[in-house]
Amino acid sequence: MKRFAVILACFALPACLETKAATNAADVATTEDTAAVDIAGDASTTTGDSPVAVTAPASWASDPNKAVKAVHMTWQHDASTTVTVQWTTPATTLDGYTPKVWFGPASGAADDGSKMQFAPALTATGAGEIYYQTITDVTPDTPSYITWTVELTGLKPATDYVFRAGTWADFKAGAFVSPDLSDVQHVRTAIAKGKRDPFNLILCGDSRGGTEKIRTNADRLAKIDAAFWLFNGDFNETGVQEQWDDWFDAMKPILSKRPLMPVQGNHEFFPPTFYGQFALPVEAGVGADYKEHAWSFTYANVHFIGLDSTQDSNVQDQVAWLESDLKAARADKDIDWIIATMHHPAYSACTNHGSTDRVQKYWVPLFEKYDVDLIFAGHDHNYERSWPWRANAKVDKGPIYVVAGAFYADGYTNGKDTWTATSSHGNKGNYVEMQVNGSKITFTAYSGDGSETLDTYTLQK
Ligand SMILES: [Fe+2]
Ligand SMILES: [Fe+2]
Repeated sequence: MKRFAVILACFALPACLETKAATNAADVATTEDTAAVDIAGDASTTTGDSPVAVTAPASWASDPNKAVKAVHMTWQHDASTTVTVQWTTPATTLDGYTPKVWFGPASGAADDGSKMQFAPALTATGAGEIYYQTITDVTPDTPSYITWTVELTGLKPATDYVFRAGTWADFKAGAFVSPDLSDVQHVRTAIAKGKRDPFNLILCGDSRGGTEKIRTNADRLAKIDAAFWLFNGDFNETGVQEQWDDWFDAMKPILSKRPLMPVQGNHEFFPPTFYGQFALPVEAGVGADYKEHAWSFTYANVHFIGLDSTQDSNVQDQVAWLESDLKAARADKDIDWIIATMHHPAYSACTNHGSTDRVQKYWVPLFEKYDVDLIFAGHDHNYERSWPWRANAKVDKGPIYVVAGAFYADGYTNGKDTWTATSSHGNKGNYVEMQVNGSKITFTAYSGDGSETLDTYTLQK
């Protein structure tokens, strides 16, 4: 019992995990330590937290109802020491299923999982949540679905981990009993807040029925060095679960390797279904009706903010939280850059939708007051970058507004207005790669097939 308590205490300490990583790697080479670890049984029968080699069973899926689908990752808390893993199963009952993630440092683990070690300290359990396909939060008489959510905590910053998500009944004699587990997934934790180490990310939005083109490009996109992805809404045509299943399947090469942080677009017709897919930060100060609609996290020296621009009431509700978040970020010496994302563009010269009054009225004054460096949006299916823009005029230094809204949705024509520095037709598709390197940020917009550079721009602090 005492030993078991030590294991639990150990789990909460990143330094302990670090030690364990080294132990893991060392143990891979030896076959002597094959003692069973019975995590479900009497604690006194465990052999402690010594990792043991795992024999991969012929199949990692023993029950079709428990088949693991749509594995993806977000951050709900400190991105450098946690990551949230989510998935769905065909079965939509909470009974008889405990969501579990078996994880470990990537060092010493093989891609096929055969060399991943098992120890109680390297597993985490979570909970399931049933959500409904409805336009309101009122429990409806409509189809219900399930998301399983497990947050891994106590991780080491800027470190590669591997994991398998799903469930199992027991672990005996070095093997899982009744495992229903995903393929091996990868994740790298964030660079700790305040460090100025370089990192890359991808920003995009508006796929809306473009899953065929996503599939054509996904393997190539997955190879692009990116710590994580930001997605500016309009994932699907209407956002019914069937479309989400298709979207997650198309995005699998990307989502099996890196977190994706989303904001809601107007084509997420069913908010409970949208927020049911993604576990996001619950920010104090965001109204109860808008939990997860507005969030922020810090990666190295950059503060990222996601906002829900879909309705006037939503935009207004987030003003107080946005101001407090921006104020705190600007006062934080660890944070050099602030980047905000939302679906509807403050400034757009595209004739399909154009600029968004509610964003200009309620949020732009805050973007200007707190010198938000970059504001990314979608909605208009083209590419546009503004001049540094403040009080409706071109300035030397000021917020820059980017529309990157054609991640394989049908393109819209581009326009030009007083704020437009450059724009490109959306029929080429687009996504943005960003390199953050301390006091310098460079972002480059590419056509959807990656063959054409639409724009490249550098900011220097
Ligand atoms: Fe759109
Ligand atoms: Fe839209």
